[in-house]
Amino acid sequence: MKNIQDMQLNEKRVLIRVDFNVPMDENKTITDDSRIKGALETISYALDKNAKVILASHLGRPKGGPDSKFSLAPVANQLSTLLNKPVQMASDCIGSDVQAASEKMVSGDIILLENLRFHAEEKQNDNEFANALASLCDIYINDAFAVSHRAHASVEAINQYVNLKAAGFLLQKELNYFKKAMNNPARPLTAVIGGAKVSSKLAALKNMINHVDKIIIGGAMANTFLKCLDCNVGKSLVEDDCLWDAHSLLKHSVMHNINVYLPIDAIVAQGIQPDAMTCSVPVKEIPQGQMIGDIGPATCLLYAEAIQNSQTIIWNGPMGVFEMDPFKNGTQSMIHCVANSPALTIVGGGDTDAALHRAGKADQIDYISTGGGAFLTLMEGKTLPAVAALNH
Ligand code: 3PG
Ligand code: MG
Repeated sequence: MKNIQDMQLNEKRVLIRVDFNVPMDENKTITDDSRIKGALETISYALDKNAKVILASHLGRPKGGPDSKFSLAPVANQLSTLLNKPVQMASDCIGSDVQAASEKMVSGDIILLENLRFHAEEKQNDNEFANALASLCDIYINDAFAVSHRAHASVEAINQYVNLKAAGFLLQKELNYFKKAMNNPARPLTAVIGGAKVSSKLAALKNMINHVDKIIIGGAMANTFLKCLDCNVGKSLVEDDCLWDAHSLLKHSVMHNINVYLPIDAIVAQGIQPDAMTCSVPVKEIPQGQMIGDIGPATCLLYAEAIQNSQTIIWNGPMGVFEMDPFKNGTQSMIHCVANSPALTIVGGGDTDAALHRAGKADQIDYISTGGGAFLTLMEGKTLPAVAALNH
């Protein structure tokens, strides 16, 4: 794979595919600009090298036509503030107007193309659409790690139509940190995996178990494992179709001497609500009619000890429903452990990232991935389609 540092950018039109899919509130105020900040290194580098910078991104999941709710205009403003430089907002991402604008650019100009997903062809990985995007530039840079698990036109098909292509700094950094943690890591290597559903993490669990020394499981996905160990989990969320997989993962871990940590106690309530009355109970004593919302205090201690001697930690997914006060302690305790660990610490996934930021501990983590699905795809041991195409 070529890197942006290998390219001659001077006076060239450089199309940088970024992932500016950032969360916004109802007033279209960006509530977390980490992904914009993540792309600044590449953008500033291209500007320093006298390039004409064209930025392309998707935002949200519009229905395949223009929809002002999903305009990237607020991102152009935020980027302009961060760079202290004007950023021109284009009205579309392909077509004669954009083409004309790209031809008029001078070195140091920045244009942000409108949401790629206003064209259904983006998600269809359409060749003609990819070609139209490619025709805007002399050099293509992929710096959109967070969407690189998608075979979409702007990250996959486009690679056939550009002569010069390379990875931006963010994409390089994301792939390198992950590699560092997985290939030849300092051991013990511990994976902390949480979140609501085992089904969405099964492939990651199955792959990670071949690499790690320990797996710590939290979140509602732990319930399925508990049930398969004959715990009565009351009304808690359980994925019955995953019981067999959970069972075989546990069996595999015993055979290969991998330590799998599961909750020994839980915070339970009648329902998962912000004002829920809770109590902590051993997992063997969950009352009928109650639901698990978080790992309990004894589990927090157990997990803290399991983390303690780890040299490398990869974490994806919260330990409980951390957005609600009664169920936030498990995730907070994990944040505390990971943030204070001298290990190489790598965290991915939107919820985990949000929890870390909320706790003000983000800067104590070695690397926080900008990816959710893309990070999980790496944990599954798969090659990202956009990265494969860039390599070709
Ligand atoms: C993300 O936020 O996961 C990426 O930007 C990809 O978006 P998507 O999940 O809508 O494809
Ligand atoms: Mg996603």
